[in-house]
Amino acid sequence: MENQSYHNLVVGGAAAATLASIEISPNLRGRSFIRDTDFSPAELLDLMETSKRLKEIRKLGRPHTYLRGKTLGLLFQHPSTRTRTAFQVGMEQLGGQAVFLGIQDLQLKRGETLQDTARIMSGYLDAIGVRIESQVDLDEFARGASVPVYNGLTSERHPIEALGDVFTLRERFGELKGLTFAYLGDGNNVCHSLMLSMAAVGVNLRVASPAGYQPDPGIVDIAKRLAAASGATIVMTEDPHEAVSGVDAVYTDVHQSMGEDAQLAKLTALAPYRVTRGVMAEAAPHAVFMHCLPMRRGLEVEPEVADGPQSIIFDQAENRLHVHKAILLHTMI
Ligand code: CP
Repeated sequence: MENQSYHNLVVGGAAAATLASIEISPNLRGRSFIRDTDFSPAELLDLMETSKRLKEIRKLGRPHTYLRGKTLGLLFQHPSTRTRTAFQVGMEQLGGQAVFLGIQDLQLKRGETLQDTARIMSGYLDAIGVRIESQVDLDEFARGASVPVYNGLTSERHPIEALGDVFTLRERFGELKGLTFAYLGDGNNVCHSLMLSMAAVGVNLRVASPAGYQPDPGIVDIAKRLAAASGATIVMTEDPHEAVSGVDAVYTDVHQSMGEDAQLAKLTALAPYRVTRGVMAEAAPHAVFMHCLPMRRGLEVEPEVADGPQSIIFDQAENRLHVHKAILLHTMI
């Protein structure tokens, strides 16, 4: 300890670091992200480039407070760890601030309408992230808003999760076109958004779900149209083995979604779609395991897979931050 020398840090003043430079397209300025298809495939790729650059800038510790003076509102009906934190911390890292607004604390609870609430909030805020049960309610809120509105999860979709997951795949494999991605289990909101986003950017999809828990046919149709345009293929099956054979990535989500009571029939139907070491052995040797989290180890995924060497679940979780920041920057600048 005696030989250790101490140097004072210089903070601020003429020596203060300048903002890292970043070049972004103005196409998304002022726009909302309510549905996965609100942004074109080229715009999704643009957002991923910005996410990559923002991740590099953050890892280098370079200042990137491009949204100074801006305020993001976060209107949440359900609990959240990743989405809320990524929005809030991301906004603050970009130099702005975020205000959390639990729906239970607002006059919405006493009957003030969604459109009135959105109109009032648009007078205070520069953008609003919303987690709300119903996509219809989110649409109604967005109709009242005059600032960008972001879908932070509805029972129908989770577009920012899907964009973060596509970004994670791209980071892992470099090229998206030609990859094959398998989703096993509940054809839920996350499955819907993954289908739409992966198909848009050219990732081949295989979705295995049991009867009664398959994705919405309307969403499947849109995904098929997007896949036709990008050159990707889509296979819908009830057979999890057909879905995972030789794929580059295996993805699953909880068998009991947020707000749902435990239903024995659903858990029983989804049990054969659990991701086990045996399932991963049917995928390509280099395949990765993905999950949007939170997860129930031992239910939809074996702990040895969730915590094993093929798992990239914590990369996915971290990447939510960089993708949220890219969306905030492009739409609020
Ligand atoms: N994946 C996801 O949206 O996580 P949270 O529910 O914690 O936000």
